[in-house]
Amino acid sequence: MQSVYPKKVLKRFFEPKYMEKMKNPDACGKAGNPACGDILEMYIKVGKKKNKKEYIKKARFLTLGCPAAISVSDMICEMIEGKTIEQASKIKFDDVLKKLGKLPATKIHCSILGIEVLKKTINNLRGVKPPARTPRKKTYVNV
Ligand code: FES
Repeated sequence: MQSVYPKKVLKRFFEPKYMEKMKNPDACGKAGNPACGDILEMYIKVGKKKNKKEYIKKARFLTLGCPAAISVSDMICEMIEGKTIEQASKIKFDDVLKKLGKLPATKIHCSILGIEVLKKTINNLRGVKPPARTPRKKTYVNV
């Protein structure tokens, strides 16, 4: 049976290398997509290079998500380990897709969600608070 996913995506889906909860991370982030219901969490531990620059020593993720979300998160963890925070913050979803292969059009949002959780994790490390949620306007219907 032919899959809509590239081989690299399937391999990471069946054998993710970085999927586990991390104890005492230096930073973590969480992102979800209300349309599909998928949720991603990312955790990082940070070290210092000889030149005193901070780098991502260890990256892990958990997800309640589709094969693309799992593969993308796994690939992002691999891509950011060993990178400085600055380098990791510049990774875009199409960099991830170049490594993984072409996702079906309906799954591109999974790679965008992966980058969103990466940004949130880096923001958490930098002490940036997420924006306050804007309360929904109440709407009344006259009947
Ligand atoms: Fe929504 Fe994959 S289907 S993240």
